[in-house]
Amino acid sequence: MSVILTRGRVPRTPHTEYYSEPEVLALEEIHGAAGFSGDWSRKYHYRKYPTQQVQDPHKLTLDLRPQPLPPLPLQPWHLRTGRLKAHGDVASGRVPLVYGTTTFVFAARFEKSCPADRFFRNGDGHELWFVQEGRGLLASEYGVLPFHKGHYVVIPKGTTYRVELESEECHLLMIESRFPIGFAPHYMNKSGQASLMSPIVETETSLPEFRPPRDEEGLFRVWTKHGGGFITEMFLGHHPFDLIGWEGALYPYAFHADDHHPLARQIHTAPPTRQTFESGSAPHAGFAVCTFKGQIEGWHPRDVPAPYAHFNADSDEVMFFSNTSYGARKGLVEPGSFTFHPGALPHSPHGMAAKRSFEERGKLSDYLAVMLDTFFEPLSVAKQAMPIADKDYPTSFNRDTQGFTAA
Ligand SMILES: [Fe+2]
Repeated sequence: MSVILTRGRVPRTPHTEYYSEPEVLALEEIHGAAGFSGDWSRKYHYRKYPTQQVQDPHKLTLDLRPQPLPPLPLQPWHLRTGRLKAHGDVASGRVPLVYGTTTFVFAARFEKSCPADRFFRNGDGHELWFVQEGRGLLASEYGVLPFHKGHYVVIPKGTTYRVELESEECHLLMIESRFPIGFAPHYMNKSGQASLMSPIVETETSLPEFRPPRDEEGLFRVWTKHGGGFITEMFLGHHPFDLIGWEGALYPYAFHADDHHPLARQIHTAPPTRQTFESGSAPHAGFAVCTFKGQIEGWHPRDVPAPYAHFNADSDEVMFFSNTSYGARKGLVEPGSFTFHPGALPHSPHGMAAKRSFEERGKLSDYLAVMLDTFFEPLSVAKQAMPIADKDYPTSFNRDTQGFTAA
């Protein structure tokens, strides 16, 4: 992100001699994205490098790779993530939903904090969470970041973290991208500051609160996800949160959906006006993430607030429904519903939802949903999602869930 932070103590000039305490040289580490050309932060470890393993690493049996399904007919999908049984923690509790070559989507319903001596690092992708239920703390080497229902949380690839739950369980939509994830670049001016026409303001983010360095010896385990879902456990003889300070533009942050300020139009607006995040080199690769948050619906006297039937042939579209108020799917979706509409198929409002939506003209709606559209990247449904699949979804567009019948 363009907001450069300084936390704790760092030397004024990068890569110069600096001490944690007299006679103890601080050890510098660069955490960078996109080679040496993207966002980066410089971190100063108290006395040990993060490379200093004290035991041989080993690969766990835990396997988070999406499993392929046999070839199936082309169809739209409805997965009910609210029906997943809570299990594990933020690392082990993820269930793959859909996957492509650079984009992976999981749901995580988990009930445990990470053990105090165990940390997670995603070496496969940058993470973007949407918090459907629960609250907790994301603790990383950058500091502590609280999150709760409605938050997006952005975690750069390679961040070492653990989650401490402050609720009985937690339900997350988890998007993972090989590419960095940030606010939509076209919202930013040439200096990287959000423009005055943007629905987001980059200073409305929550930032990590820096904590004093943990200059502690012991046995600390770091689980690193790699190879698409394998987990390797490595062992450090010192606490990984040992920074005396850090500075840079690469760090975890949170952004609440309440702080996405929707842009309204006299007639129906297409999804790009609702965009919040972007990843990759859109519109040629990567994806856009949109926040469908209640807004003033079109106030043209003949506006149709419900969307049109549509498909973007170069995009696969997934949508996560935080509540059930979205008019086009009312009566069908439940909190945590996840639809997947492949680009090769058009999708539409259900039944006569378009006619029903006339009542919404000019009114403030109250839906909340998160949409992800890929660019030139087909997605597939993971086998692990089959237990929560709605088998009737492909034919559900021909019936109405609210008392109207399709013409
Ligand atoms: Fe759509």
